[in-house]
Amino acid sequence: MTFYQRHIFFCTNRRENGDACDHHGATELCAYAKRRLTEAAPHLTGQIRVNRAGYLSQCEYGPTVVIYPEAVWYTYIDTKDIDEIVDEHLVNGRIVQRLRIDRPN
Ligand code: FES
Repeated sequence: MTFYQRHIFFCTNRRENGDACDHHGATELCAYAKRRLTEAAPHLTGQIRVNRAGYLSQCEYGPTVVIYPEAVWYTYIDTKDIDEIVDEHLVNGRIVQRLRIDRPN
């Protein structure tokens, strides 16, 4: 059995009436992140996992992901942000400060 070194969860919640992460492309961007990770770091296959999560309950910050074991929370807008999260944090272990939503005030 493989235990992952790092794990990212995308909130993919949808709502009938109201905003939610999947209205911002969360499901598609989760799939994009998987492809990006495979392309950027094929040597890490099986060590880093990209998963959808039902609901992460951080709606006030916009579309949300969280990465463990660091427990760092991010928001994103587009594939450029996802590239940075994948390349910097997932692959290289460097936290992307500009996209964090869990920074202390
Ligand atoms: S719907 Fe994803 S954090 Fe609110």
